[in-house]
Formats: sequence, C-alpha cells, structure tokens
Amino acid sequence: MADDGNASADLLVIFGITGDLAHKMTFRALYRLERRELLDCPILGVAGDELSLDKLVERARKALDDAGEDIDEDVFERLAGRLDYLHGDVTDSQLYRSLAERIGSDRRPLYYLEMPPALFAPIVENLAEEGLLQRARVAVEKPFGHDLESGRELKSRLRAVLAEDQILLVDHYLGKQPVIELEFLRFANRSLARLWDRDSVAAIHITMAEDLGVEERGEFYDAVGALRDVVQNHLLQVLALVAMDPPVGPGADDLNDKKAEVFRAMPALDPEQCVRGQYRGYTEIKDVAKDSTTETFVALCTEIDNWRWAGVPIYLRAGKGLPEKVTEVRLLLHRVPALAFLPDRRPAEPNQIVLRINPDPGMRLQLSAHGDTWTDIHLDSSFVEDLGEPVKPYEHLLHAALIGDHQHFAREDSVEETWRIVQPLLDNPSEIQYYDRGTWGPEAAQAMLPSDCGWHQPWMPRKTDSEH
Ligand code: BG6
Repeated sequence: MADDGNASADLLVIFGITGDLAHKMTFRALYRLERRELLDCPILGVAGDELSLDKLVERARKALDDAGEDIDEDVFERLAGRLDYLHGDVTDSQLYRSLAERIGSDRRPLYYLEMPPALFAPIVENLAEEGLLQRARVAVEKPFGHDLESGRELKSRLRAVLAEDQILLVDHYLGKQPVIELEFLRFANRSLARLWDRDSVAAIHITMAEDLGVEERGEFYDAVGALRDVVQNHLLQVLALVAMDPPVGPGADDLNDKKAEVFRAMPALDPEQCVRGQYRGYTEIKDVAKDSTTETFVALCTEIDNWRWAGVPIYLRAGKGLPEKVTEVRLLLHRVPALAFLPDRRPAEPNQIVLRINPDPGMRLQLSAHGDTWTDIHLDSSFVEDLGEPVKPYEHLLHAALIGDHQHFAREDSVEETWRIVQPLLDNPSEIQYYDRGTWGPEAAQAMLPSDCGWHQPWMPRKTDSEH
C-alpha cells in the first residue's frame, strides 16, 4: 500500500488553464486519461481571465479539435463534468483565500503550475501561507531556473515550504515512450548491454533538430536560447539514460541515483568545444532584440569520466530552422580491423545503433554487407508497429503526477548538476555564427567532429506517397 505521501491526488488544480500549454497539451492529455478511465478527481482551473465555466468547457473542446482529437461525446461529457474554474491574480493573496474556501482543508491536491517560471516560487509560497500544501504535490514545468544560481534559489524557495517528494519537476522528454524504453532496451537485451561501453562504442551523437523557427515565441526564446531551452534539460536527461548503469531496484530513486551518477561524472562544459549558431532572419522576429546574440543552434562535445565511458566523445546538437524535425541518439561502434580476405578491406561505415525519439519512434541497427561493394544494411523496428501506439508524454506524466509516481520526473540534485555542467557556456558564450534556415547549422558545427566520423544524416521515417 502506498503511504499518504504517495497516495493519489483527489483534486487537480491547474494554474494557467487558459494558457498555451493547456491548449496544446493538457486538455488532450486529460481527455485521453478520461477515455482510458484513469481520471477520478475533479479538476479546478485557475487563471487570470474572467471566464464562465461554459467558456472553459468550450476552450477544452477547441483544444481537442485543434489537436485533431476524435471526440467521443460521452468521454468529453465526463471530462467536462469534472471541470471547475476560479479566476484571479496569482500574485494576489485574495486568490489563495478564495482557493482555500473552494477546496477546504481535507484534500490531497496536485497543483500543476503551467505558469512562467518566475511565478513558481511566489505561487507556492502563497499556497503555503494559506495552509494549502500539507497533503499536496506540486508539479512545475522546466525551465527550473535560468542558471546554476537561480536554479539553486528556486530549489531553496520551494524546499522551504515543500518536502522533496512533494515536488515534481516535469521534463516532457522523460515522458516520451522511446526515452522510457531506453532502460528496458539497454538492460533487457544482452546483445545491446554487451556493446554499451567504451570497449565497443567509439562516439555518441545526439541530435535534436527542429525545422520550425522561433516564430511567435520570440519574447520567451530570446531570453533563453537553445542551450537553456533544450540541452540543459531534455538532451542531458536523455544522455543520462543512455549512459547510466542499471538501477538496483524498481524505485524512482534507484533510477534517479544512476542518472545522477552520470551527471556527477561529467566535467563542466568547455566553451571552446561549443559552437553557437543563429539562423539568418532570427532578429526580425517580433520581440527579439535587433542585436540579439541568442543562439538558435548549439553543438558541443562532452565526455563522461567514468569506467564505462572514459575517452568516448559525446556530441550533442540542437537547433531550430534546420532541415528536419527529428530527435535521435546514435552510437557509433569501433571500426572492425581490415579484412585480409577482401581487396577493399574495410567497410566505409562503422556499425551504428540508432534510437529515434521522434518522429515515428524506433530503433535501427546499421550493419555492413558486401554485395558488389560495401553496402549498409539496416535492421529497423518501428515502435508503433511493434509496441503499439504510445501514450503521449503529457498523458503519461500527468497521470504519474496524480498517482505520485516519481519515476519519470527530473530529480533536484540532477537538475543542479546539469546547471553546473552548462554554466561555463552561459558565463563565456562562444561567438555566434550564422547559418541559413534549412541547413544543418554553421559550418563550424561540422568541423568540430573528426573528418572520418562526422555528423550523420539522421534516420528519417520513409515518406508515404502522399507526403512526397
Ligand atoms: C520545448 C522547447 O521544451 O521542447 C521548445 O521549449 C521545443 O522550444 C520543444 O520546440 C520540442 O519538443 P518536442 O517534443 O516537439 O521535441
């Protein structure tokens, strides 16, 4: 039996229910949980807009329509029946008095803060002031701070009024099915487990490419940049799962201990091993400074100084305005020795193991065969075909937060370590280099890798005829 600290929430309070995240992700996740009969509590939305409950329900429907969700009216009616709304200013203590009156003192609420990060601490402090945190959990979305110092400050303000297990740090990459699968694929398969170290792996490449630019998110993005937006969190979290040793038990801390060990073994990043790029035209975007040096692309080299990985270069790159939207992890294995029985003695490419996180999650093993000449052949698995349609990340994480399962949330010691790792790049950013949209970033990002082991064209799903 779960103790009270892990008991399911009996009320979900969403701060910022009229915002972008709720529109794009939360309503759909709630609807899908309702459809799977996994929701069993009322939902109270809180936001600054003066809105009737009917209007909130209309917004929920519009969010589902915009997400292309096929609405089953019975399911929607059940979801709508759970919704309630409280309007108010989250910086005004009156809102929290009204909230206390509305929900009483006998609840185990989950407060989900879909709010600008600067408001996390003030909201939580106001909740504490009204005595609304005793049996609560609080979920906050990344970014958790802006750098090492502000990350620590946020942590200490939250921890002044909440125990660690009352806080859930949401990084939606940790809710993605292929990222969750990493643990199973790596350790349940001897064929992979035996290859997964410096004896077999020559380099690790992780790419998170987005074809879209910054578009209407200029105000948010210009203060953040690619390193803070996706590397300090998503990519380093993925890297920890790629590199960690097997957890010793089933608990969330067993997993998070192993991830934390990876971060602790990583040196702080070296600005000389980092290329920052900005796509041409970025400074024309609304709310972006005309002389902005914010990076929309970053590529860097790092390492993990432990027994398993010492000496294996790890390259990460992330950017907007690139040719494709694709996120993948690629392990390049050592080359085989020359084959004395063949005239063209070596395959051109080393063996590779690729985990595609999106689109169309899957895994690929690239081998060499010899027809008339060396040819790459691929053993591919599409997870949708082999494992079925995955649960969406927010559906997964919202449910986990409701039932108090901490497994797929970032842990605060790891978040602090990741800020430590990226901090030198924030203190001494390398000069910005420009690239054209639709390319793979600045030239220098290509040049940072050895010529015989450069960035690989990511593994893309085959286009269907209608997509050509
Ligand atoms: C978010 C970033 O965390 O992740 C965005 O703030 C980015 O800038 C997004 O576009 C990418 O997520 P996904 O799931 O589409 O790869």
